[in-house]
Amino acid sequence: MPPMQIFVTRKIPAPGLEILRAAKVEFQVAQEQENAGLDPAELAAGTGQSSVLLSLLTEKIDRRLLESAPRLLGVANMAVGFDNIDIDAATELGIPVSNTPGVLTESTADLTWAMLLGVARRIPQAHRYMCNGEYKLWGPNLFLGSDLGPGPDGRRKVLGIVGYGRIGAAVARRAQGFDMRVIAYDPHNSAGIAADPQVEGMGDLNEVLRAADFVSLHPLLSPETRHLISTDELRAMQPGAFLINASRGPVVDEAALLLALREGWIAGAALDVYEREPEMLAGLESLPNVLLLPHIASATWDTRGRMASMAAENALCHLRGQVAPNAVNGEVYASDAYRARQARQSS
Ligand code: DGY
Repeated sequence: MPPMQIFVTRKIPAPGLEILRAAKVEFQVAQEQENAGLDPAELAAGTGQSSVLLSLLTEKIDRRLLESAPRLLGVANMAVGFDNIDIDAATELGIPVSNTPGVLTESTADLTWAMLLGVARRIPQAHRYMCNGEYKLWGPNLFLGSDLGPGPDGRRKVLGIVGYGRIGAAVARRAQGFDMRVIAYDPHNSAGIAADPQVEGMGDLNEVLRAADFVSLHPLLSPETRHLISTDELRAMQPGAFLINASRGPVVDEAALLLALREGWIAGAALDVYEREPEMLAGLESLPNVLLLPHIASATWDTRGRMASMAAENALCHLRGQVAPNAVNGEVYASDAYRARQARQSS
């Protein structure tokens, strides 16, 4: 039986599906419901019978799954992050993997700022207060929060950016409007930081943590960045500082963060992502100094449509044996494993 051409794990936004329809390829959307995913058996069955997998960050694409799919020609992940995929295994097996970079940079930076402002000015708490009918009389001490602009002493607030890729840089750009001093640390992009006149590069993470009033996290998740922020790092932050995470949950040790927030090591945290997503550590929800969102940093109509389109274009490249413009393991195309896989498909 010939393999299904493209296996789309879950319902992606319409622009992506339109591209697949217009290309007249055979594809299947395995899960149409918004709130449901695929179980591992369904994912394995679909992947094993398909030429291309169009996946979301909710699917764990590990070595076992990839090994069980000898006819798979590529994985198009509809996300900029690809920590859900074992890239080393894919490369070894000759499978190109692509992502959707660039198109979500601005919306993610926007939401990072919404989180920063929201937690600093206690917007969720004030909203709840209104909805609960608790607002009876205006008072000068009602929901006092932190300023973003310079204080009475003229000191500019410091925004510390950890991970200075596209999104980190877009977050930094927006800080100019608030007259903030921006410092950044990224051991993989010190050249990018040095080239940006608006940003001061820091030699190590602790320098950023000690100096910042707001710490915003934007690294890729890797073994190196797992629990990048844990007890020592939270202890290094100022008691009046806020932590914002719109990158990946495991970058922060959630248990350490819970303790830090409970004991007032830092002033507050805004999280869009969680260590064991979609679960979050019990106790976070009852803290007075958090803002918690369900991984929506790129959730705008336009951005999600563009991500879906980009993933669909990547999937078509994988299907046609063309180099995908957004391959994250581009070296795979020169490998024997890749050539063998292509040859197997056409035999
Ligand atoms: C990504 O693309 O990696 C985001 O987390 C979801 O948009």
